[in-house]
Amino acid sequence: MAHIGYGDKVRKAVFPVAGMGSRFLPATKASPKEMMAVVDKPLIQYAVEEAIDAGITEMIFITGRTKRSIADHFDKAYELEHQLELHGKTDLLAIAQNIVPKGISCTYIRQTETLGLGHAVATASHLIGNEPFAVILADDLISSKKGALCQMVDIYEQYNSAVIAVQKIDGAAISAYGVISGVKQRDRIYQLDSIVEKPPYADAPSDLGVTGRYIFTPKIFAHLAALKPGAGGEYQLTDAIQALLTDEQVLAFEYEGIRYDCGSKLGLLKANIELGLRHHEIGDELRTYLKNELLAKL
Ligand code: G1P
Repeated sequence: MAHIGYGDKVRKAVFPVAGMGSRFLPATKASPKEMMAVVDKPLIQYAVEEAIDAGITEMIFITGRTKRSIADHFDKAYELEHQLELHGKTDLLAIAQNIVPKGISCTYIRQTETLGLGHAVATASHLIGNEPFAVILADDLISSKKGALCQMVDIYEQYNSAVIAVQKIDGAAISAYGVISGVKQRDRIYQLDSIVEKPPYADAPSDLGVTGRYIFTPKIFAHLAALKPGAGGEYQLTDAIQALLTDEQVLAFEYEGIRYDCGSKLGLLKANIELGLRHHEIGDELRTYLKNELLAKL
């Protein structure tokens, strides 16, 4: 594939976090779903850490009402730091201070209307400019040895084309996803032929569902600007990707890793149990509890 002339490095990531999170009511009435914790860390922090690990230095959050705590989370907490210092809690102080490492910037855009994922990403166009960028949906938590976005950056740098993350989805559940059809290029990589948002199971073009990681060239913005309401009456990122296919190649990539759908209650609980089992403080005790106490009750 010819070099398309954008900067080689993916430095910016967009985090759409303006959604209402109504599936988690009442937990999300006044606080963002992205701030729900898996063990001891909010979902949005896992997403930001994955971005940092992939070399991203500029975090752009598309936020809205009731989401102020996200900006607070990534801000300096003078009082907390002072108290921890005063009490000699240096480990906890380091945790509080390293949420945003040096050299990483955070910018917030308020999306006043939640008109869909495509609309949310479009609001970041003036901050992206003529550069490639990533989009991360924090409720897809991906646990992997090498970060999923880092794996995708490698593919982007190799092919110089847009990359979207996919995974095989069993049965009728596929109709909750963007679904691709494509030609296999090599292990785990497909060249996209088409993509459709939340098709009925019978019409799904494959069992490959899009999970919340994307790398785009800025060409996507022209197609986002031309969007009409799609599935569910929303401006769908998926429809802009379909339109992008007339301009340039898009690759779908089956990343290595386990994804937890933390947009669902069950997914969030599974993530808590599995990451809890691997947690250095509570892993052993949780394993003992699950085996010796909980299993006996089931
Ligand atoms: C969004 C996208 C969909 C994608 C999914 C992954 O849908 O529109 O294409 O498959 O994220 O989590 P949502 O789950 O926000 O309805």
